[in-house]
Amino acid sequence: MSSEPAGGMRQTLASERTTILVTGGAGFIGSNFIRYILTATEYRGSIVNFDKLTYAGNLASLEDIDRTLGRERYFFERGDICDPRRVEDVIGKYSVPIIVHFAAESHVDRSIHGPADFIETNINGTFRLLEAARSAWQGRQDVRFHHVSTDEVYGSLGETGAFLETTPYDPRSPYSATKAASDHLVRAYFHTYGLPVTLSNCSNNYGPYQFPEKLIPLVVLNALEGKALPVYGDGMNVRDWLHVDDHGEAVWQILHKGAAGETYNIGGECEKRNIEVVRDICAILEELAPAAENPCVKDRAGVSRYEDLITFVGDRPGHDRRYAINCDKIKRELGWRQRYDFSGGLRATISWYLRNAAWVESVRSGDYQKWIDRNYAGRNS
Ligand code: NAD
Ligand code: TYD
Repeated sequence: MSSEPAGGMRQTLASERTTILVTGGAGFIGSNFIRYILTATEYRGSIVNFDKLTYAGNLASLEDIDRTLGRERYFFERGDICDPRRVEDVIGKYSVPIIVHFAAESHVDRSIHGPADFIETNINGTFRLLEAARSAWQGRQDVRFHHVSTDEVYGSLGETGAFLETTPYDPRSPYSATKAASDHLVRAYFHTYGLPVTLSNCSNNYGPYQFPEKLIPLVVLNALEGKALPVYGDGMNVRDWLHVDDHGEAVWQILHKGAAGETYNIGGECEKRNIEVVRDICAILEELAPAAENPCVKDRAGVSRYEDLITFVGDRPGHDRRYAINCDKIKRELGWRQRYDFSGGLRATISWYLRNAAWVESVRSGDYQKWIDRNYAGRNS
């Protein structure tokens, strides 16, 4: 199957009237992507954010964008990607030529406790979206379906090596298994129906607006509140950390220059053991909000520094030991580079959480505390 020349997509993106449909735009990466595209690039078209608003979707994450660009270049449509009629209606209403698909159930621990929603959204939802795109686009080649995926589909690495785009899939959690299934479906639609797709498989993201169930925001907020900082197992699992805006820039480059049918790995080239990340957070917090001056911490017996809150807890079942991404292809072929170094990006992220207590409050309402109690109960250290 021949791939569409990159110039076609560049022209589509340069058009003032173009609309990009972003699924999952109220989540962590989707909301940062929308802000990045509308405020930090030359793009002059509009964006439709299609999101079900699960516990992980928060319109507060795009309140600034809605206030400044709402109903001119930014539109929100609440909907479920598993609902074919709703998806078709929105694609038709805005004559969408580009879909960037972030919507997913994304937390490994939740997939262990309850995999059903992962099957439904990540597999069936992606299938419904592909079908809607195929039916709306009818063989057009000046369109694009970009699927956002994860390095976790490749499985777990030993002490050395890194995932390539050609690494065989070996998912080991319900989350990564459902993402792997969705990747296969997206590629099948390219080969079988000629749908112009691209895929990206990305390493762990960090940055502002991340829901505080994931390691970095959870540790920052627990520390500030004088709560235990839970480290799974021996804390020696390795993740490759990438700033969320570097991810957004990479997806933007793929939309402009990526060839249909291709997959691009995106990584931070920044491997860290979990315990190192937790200690880094504690050290930065000591500078920005010293434990000795924090009433939630200083009055706790045996705790004088944030590091004293570190607590090793029972491991995550099937916990992948190490992820590392080889992202030479996107660097070589599309000219993408990471702009953030981890220590600067982490400091900026922690400062953001310190300045945005109202956002934290708004997303932690609802069932958040019930989830925390469920996930950490029984993980005796
Ligand atoms: P997130 O959980 O923060 O956000 C997911 C968003 O999708 C939420 O706004 C939610 O409301 C929405 N959503 C869920 N089910 C939906 C449905 N059925 N219909 C419509 N909307 C629905 O996730 P994230 O961290 O922003 O991840 C975004 C994408 O990036 C996911 O596909 C994930 O697999 C992938 N990814 C994430 C990371 C990471 O480190 N967070 C790394 C690599 C890849
Ligand atoms: P997480 O942020 O859930 O991302 P992922 O599972 O997609 O990599 O976790 C990052 C790493 O941190 C992972 O190895 C699990 C570990 N972890 C902890 O040690 N404690 C925690 O409370 C959480 C949420 C994660």
